[in-house]
Amino acid sequence: MSLSHAAYRRALRVMPGGNTRTSNFEKPHPTYLVCGSGAYVTDVDGRRYLDFQNNFTTLIHGYGHPSVVDAIRRQAGLGLSFAGPTVAEIELAELLVERVSYFEQIRFTNTGSEAVMIAIKAARAYTGRDLIAKCDGAYHGNYDVVEANVTTPPLAGTERPTPKGEHSGVARSALSDCLIIPFNDIERTRKIIESAADRLAAIVVDPLPSRIGLIAISADYLTFLRNFTLRNSSLLIFDQVLSFRLGYGGAPVAKPNFPDLCAIGKIIGGGLPIGAVAGRTDIMAVFDPARADRACVIHSGTFTANPLSMAAGLAAMTALPRSEFDRLNVLGAQARSLIAEAFASVGIKGTVTGEGSLFRLFVGPEQVASYADTFAAAHDPRLRSIVARMRERKVLLSSIGLGALSTPMTGTDIAYLAETLEEALRSLKSEPT
Ligand SMILES: Cc1ncc(COP(=O)(O)O)c(C=O)c1O
Repeated sequence: MSLSHAAYRRALRVMPGGNTRTSNFEKPHPTYLVCGSGAYVTDVDGRRYLDFQNNFTTLIHGYGHPSVVDAIRRQAGLGLSFAGPTVAEIELAELLVERVSYFEQIRFTNTGSEAVMIAIKAARAYTGRDLIAKCDGAYHGNYDVVEANVTTPPLAGTERPTPKGEHSGVARSALSDCLIIPFNDIERTRKIIESAADRLAAIVVDPLPSRIGLIAISADYLTFLRNFTLRNSSLLIFDQVLSFRLGYGGAPVAKPNFPDLCAIGKIIGGGLPIGAVAGRTDIMAVFDPARADRACVIHSGTFTANPLSMAAGLAAMTALPRSEFDRLNVLGAQARSLIAEAFASVGIKGTVTGEGSLFRLFVGPEQVASYADTFAAAHDPRLRSIVARMRERKVLLSSIGLGALSTPMTGTDIAYLAETLEEALRSLKSEPT
């Protein structure tokens, strides 16, 4: 029995399903990881992998970046957490506010889910309304109102859809405060939100939603959402928890379409737990405990803005000047083009989506342009088989075929990714069906 298998059996005794994080559940058992260095990670059985998972896109510097490790060591010597605020939180806040023109003020959280949650609370406090619109198939973390329609079949027809809480434990009452809209489909979205415009607190949208298919928001759809929210005194919230890694200032967006609030996370913590909500000063004022006019939105948390995450985040983000995002994004483009070539050279139909340093591969369709395309392709068992075959060849991708580059990677790693995919595709093709 492998040591990963043994670890899983041990976990089964003390954790439901042997699992404490739904996203890494795997049959017959997950691979238990033990250490990493640069772009590589090693499992408990001593196998070393080129890692494109990077903790679900978080580890933009891979493992053991010297200045991140030094910052954590330094802060650990000073203190792990305190009841009072620290200067470390101001430093990371200053860096982020300086980089993104629509970040006027910021507030930290412990996770991306929490960032989305408090952005929604801020929108409700600011507008005095409850209703939230989110896109069909989009993932925004674990918070009741955004847990609707994440993996359900795509919306069909023009009727106003009933939000589906496919995950157990989501309150029906929370779903009644939710509207589901089809990503990048202006006319159907208009029909759904128009009748509820005066109750709509906010529209939450990810500019590059991974579960929808890692397809970018179209300029027209974004402009439509921005104009609609402005006209109806609702807020536009960007969820860039994942897509903030697209550039120095996050996902590219032009001025007239700046969001009111933005939830971020993942890369800004240097590998430690983090999230943040940032945006317009007049909206962020809902959190101000000193405000005299009415009660503020309560947002506390024992570990919020803990100095370890702040110090690691500051070191990681400082090591990401514009030139480093540019280099990584060029490598990302190279990865997408070599992946497409691998499909073509083996003669198996498939495609790749993504932007910047992110890619998602699909086996089956030749184009993925909507959640409906993604949903159909995600059920093709060949994708799982390719991900497993790549893992056997020591390359890690997420189970949905999502990959994220890290700064220690070079063109050689990208070429290896493509060679491995090609081998995996050839072995799949040679098998009797
Ligand atoms: C777009 C998006 N929003 C929110 C979240 C939730 O972030 P966290 O896992 O840090 O709670 C994620 C996590 O993958 C995400 O991709």
